[in-house]
Amino acid sequence: MTAPLLSIRDLVIDYGKGPGQFRALHGCSFDLEPGQVMAVVGESGSGKSSLVRAVAGLVAPASGEVRLDGKVLPALRKRPPQTRRMIQMVFQDPGSSLNPLHRVGAIIEEPLRVTHYGDASRRAARVAELMEMTQLSPELASRRPRELSGGQKQRVAIARALAMEPRLLIADEALSALDFTTQDHVSSLLSDLRRELNLAMLFVSHDMRSVRRMADDVCVIEKGHVVEQGPVSEVLYNPSSAYTRLLLAAALNPRAALSDPRLAEALENGEAVSEEALEGVMEIIRGGALMGDSR
Ligand SMILES: Nc1ncnc2c1ncn2[C@@H]1O[C@H](COP(=O)(O)OP(=O)(O)OP(=O)(O)O)[C@@H](O)[C@H]1O
Ligand SMILES: [Mg+2]
Repeated sequence: MTAPLLSIRDLVIDYGKGPGQFRALHGCSFDLEPGQVMAVVGESGSGKSSLVRAVAGLVAPASGEVRLDGKVLPALRKRPPQTRRMIQMVFQDPGSSLNPLHRVGAIIEEPLRVTHYGDASRRAARVAELMEMTQLSPELASRRPRELSGGQKQRVAIARALAMEPRLLIADEALSALDFTTQDHVSSLLSDLRRELNLAMLFVSHDMRSVRRMADDVCVIEKGHVVEQGPVSEVLYNPSSAYTRLLLAAALNPRAALSDPRLAEALENGEAVSEEALEGVMEIIRGGALMGDSR
């Protein structure tokens, strides 16, 4: 049997040392196959970025393992170049992740230059190909990031990430800074790329709409604990944990969820919610699912 593309086992992440030490992730395990998309959801501060940053090698786990093709991944600086290029990341703020002084063409070419990919004309051809793949028109190559829309900037970030032909793309709130329509365009681009390139994805998001649209599986984290994980069709349509239900309700229809004082209080205190309150949430979820659903 071949090993999964990505395999995470009992991953624990701590920040700081001594009495001030803080555990951001209390053990997380899952496998990801080529072309599979796993969404990571949870409220702000729940540990989503910590998890995906550990996979990218940007954070060293306190314990547990991250394996790629069955081999344990060391910290980023100890990863051989071949392994590094396999995992690429796209961040939330498309503006700050692009060098403002460089032109789009040079930004996309940079990883190719750094890794000594072909000569100048081979690289130019590859840049043109990457721009086409990400639906960026060729004349944008001579623009600087400030002359682009948010959606275009995020496409540039995606093109640059794809330059290395990764097998796993990590998108940490990559759609969050974009307006509604642009989110839809970029998420359908990511879905197309995933199919064309058999690209696996870890997709961190607050937005249940795009999670439903993009992901096969979902991992729900609450205060560093995985409270639920499994296929989107099960977790988001028939959630078993109170936390997932609340998260869904708040995401789908925040005003309705928060105008229910029981829910507002439960969210605030992170308390267990009564069956009666949950039934209310399920109603909101059903209403919201009908409202915001595009699957
Ligand atoms: N470098 C760090 N040093 C100390 N604590 C950190 C560090 N990075 C994150 N944390 C803490 O770890 C917890 C999880 O943070 P993380 O960034 O993983 O959350 P998140 O789920 O990505 O939140 P958001 O949705 O706001 O991006 C938070 O309490 C945060 O304050
Ligand atoms: Mg985060």
